[in-house]
Amino acid sequence: MSELIAKLRAALGDAQVLTEGDLGAWEQDWRRRSRGKALAVVRPGSTAEVAAVVRLCAAAGTAIVPQGGNTGLVVGGIPDASGTQVLLSLGRMNRVRAIDPANLTITAEAGCVLQSVQQAAQAAGFLFPLSLGSEGSCTLGGNLGTNAGGTQVLRYGNARELCLGLEVVTPQGEVWDGLSGLRKDNTGYDLRDLFVGSEGTLGVITAATMKLFPQPAASLTAWAAVPDMESAVALLGLAHRGLGASLTGFEVMGRFSLSLVRKHFPQLRVPFADSSPFGVLLECSDHESEAHARAQFERLLERALEDGCATDAVVAESLAQAAELWHVRESITLAQAQEGLNIKHDISIPVSSIPAFCRSAEERLLRAIPGVRLVNFGHLGDGNLHFNVQAPAGADGPAFLREWEDPVNTLVYDTVQEFGGSISAEHGVGSLKVDKLPHHKSPVALGLMRAIKQALDPQGLMNPGRVLHP
Ligand code: FAD
Ligand code: MLT
Ligand code: ZN
Repeated sequence: MSELIAKLRAALGDAQVLTEGDLGAWEQDWRRRSRGKALAVVRPGSTAEVAAVVRLCAAAGTAIVPQGGNTGLVVGGIPDASGTQVLLSLGRMNRVRAIDPANLTITAEAGCVLQSVQQAAQAAGFLFPLSLGSEGSCTLGGNLGTNAGGTQVLRYGNARELCLGLEVVTPQGEVWDGLSGLRKDNTGYDLRDLFVGSEGTLGVITAATMKLFPQPAASLTAWAAVPDMESAVALLGLAHRGLGASLTGFEVMGRFSLSLVRKHFPQLRVPFADSSPFGVLLECSDHESEAHARAQFERLLERALEDGCATDAVVAESLAQAAELWHVRESITLAQAQEGLNIKHDISIPVSSIPAFCRSAEERLLRAIPGVRLVNFGHLGDGNLHFNVQAPAGADGPAFLREWEDPVNTLVYDTVQEFGGSISAEHGVGSLKVDKLPHHKSPVALGLMRAIKQALDPQGLMNPGRVLHP
């Protein structure tokens, strides 16, 4: 047994330092794109224990990979294959530390599953709006590490906008207590925003203070059939004007994405599936009453039908019906995974340019690979598409990926750049996009990022090879 393992066991107890048995749940990424091998999986139960682990690893020159729920989609939270990295799982740090009703804040530990944070907020009479398809497994620390987005961003912002303060263990094993619930604090560089979205490369987030909101009196969901992406963007404009701040969700789903849901989850009902090229899911959250929300929604949808930007629409009659519609949307990722290997692109484009981007990228892809299938869906309300590429029907998935992954990424990301977009909207860079970043970020921006990494983590031990090459 190595000296480091013995010291980690002395610090945490034998049961919390795993080196044998099936460590697959920690070593395999969610999409099964990569499998690593950890020197050990360590499971600290407190901030002091995280700090002790980091100090011991720093002294031994051993790299650390922080991991929450392991639902990340860019291979950022698993160890590499060397068997030399410590996998630091935050799962045992799962306490809600405090709710401050007057300050509208919740302070929770990094290993809290997102759904449990939502539930704690709800039990106290508040809304915690961060909402992702993976919310039953992903953790607050992972959400902040990746600056997660999800389906409520157009109204409430992404994880960064919801975060007021952090507690972080630095790469040297010091604890920065930045758990302020302040909405105003201009005392120099913003350390919080540096750690949010840093994907475990600058330190370990151990707790966070997050914003809460009043619960709306009513929340309604509608599904609209739309003829093309231009119409979806026109409908978004109508929804902004008609609903104002009550518009809390606006998701678009292409016909092929929905056909995969029907194929792999035949029990789910997809409205207007045969008749429309795109489905749009709209959510309206109202602080007055359900009747008020329904009236606003009906006016909006009538106008959309008159204008021709929707060809059909239905408003959910009950919470159960609304949940069913959301379930269809949230099932696309799984349906797509079940269909076989695919090339994922989590991109953002200014909303106004999305129709032209889609036309251009689709044309180029079909010219390069006749028969290729597009799984195009996403958070249109905030300009974030999941513009995914699935092999032509009947093609061998692994062979397709070997031949096409790099050229397809280049084609899509170059088109994203032409339209002023970003090659990672909400999933992060991880390992999967690390080679692409230098082509799509300016040398000045990359130089500043390297300087920050060097200043905070001069030994290069925090999640090496993610975001930036070592
Ligand atoms: P992990 O996968 O464990 O880690 C992700 C990254 O964060 C890694 O780089 C890791 O090192 C780092 N990290 C984890 N914990 C910490 C910590 N405490 N301190 C520092 N760094 C840390 N993402 C979206 O943004 N929007 C979506 O709508 C969305 N939907 C999804 C739906 C499905 C079905 C799935 C499988 C994934 C989805 N995701 C989505 C991606 C994923 O759920 C998010 O990226 C999530 O925020 C990751 O949380 P996690 O706890 O699983 O993090
Ligand atoms: C989503 O919006 O469903 C997620 O970001 C997951 C995905 O991109 O597949
Ligand atoms: Zn998404």
